[in-house]
Amino acid sequence: MLNSKGFDMWADGYDKSVNLSEERDEYPFAGYKDVLNYIYNEVRGKPGARVLDIGFGTGILTTKLYNSGCIITGIDFSSNMIEIAKEKMPGAELMKWDFSEGLPEEIKSSRYDFIISTYAIHHLTDKEKINFITSCFELLNEKGRILIGDVSFETRNHLDECKEKYSQYWDNDEIYFTADEIIDEFGNEYSCIYKKISHCAGVLTIAKK
Ligand SMILES: C[S@@+](CC[C@H](N)C(=O)[O-])C[C@H]1O[C@@H](n2cnc3c(N)ncnc32)[C@H](O)[C@@H]1O
Repeated sequence: MLNSKGFDMWADGYDKSVNLSEERDEYPFAGYKDVLNYIYNEVRGKPGARVLDIGFGTGILTTKLYNSGCIITGIDFSSNMIEIAKEKMPGAELMKWDFSEGLPEEIKSSRYDFIISTYAIHHLTDKEKINFITSCFELLNEKGRILIGDVSFETRNHLDECKEKYSQYWDNDEIYFTADEIIDEFGNEYSCIYKKISHCAGVLTIAKK
């Protein structure tokens, strides 16, 4: 599992390595741009939206939202990622924080229209993801939505097929969610929609019913 130092080392080459895997339509980043665009299109419909980005990295998506007028708060534990993102978004509130510790105290009284996360929360176990997403609901405005784009699958069978196909590169330290299992967790209380974007990626949208 990459720690903050690992992400610090990846920061400079991150955009390039993502593009390479994306262009080859291969696990893990097949569909990456479409995942980000899907979330961008959902959020930009609300001008001046308050957005919290969990694990914003080099800020590829966050910067687009920032430039379209969203008010951005972000958390990430890599100093180098934060430095790169800060240059692109000088007016954003970007905090150094390890989200495996939950949410930072400073934002607990804030409210957001959107809480987004792309390719980041697979560093949490499924149980930790559920707990973390549950804690995020507290920070949502009445009609707010949580959008999570990541390596993910409709079912565990689909995940297993991908794992077999890419057994040489499969990252056993990352824990990908499957839509059916996560919808089982949240579906009674919240409205959950999973949009499949590529053979190994999709976006989960969760909102209060
Ligand atoms: C693969 S990158 C994704 C970056 C960006 N969201 C994107 O879609 O390109 C994962 C990011 O999450 C951050 N991250 C991973 N685990 C984290 C944790 N426990 N707490 C805070 N940030 C974390 C890393 O530093 C990195 O910037």
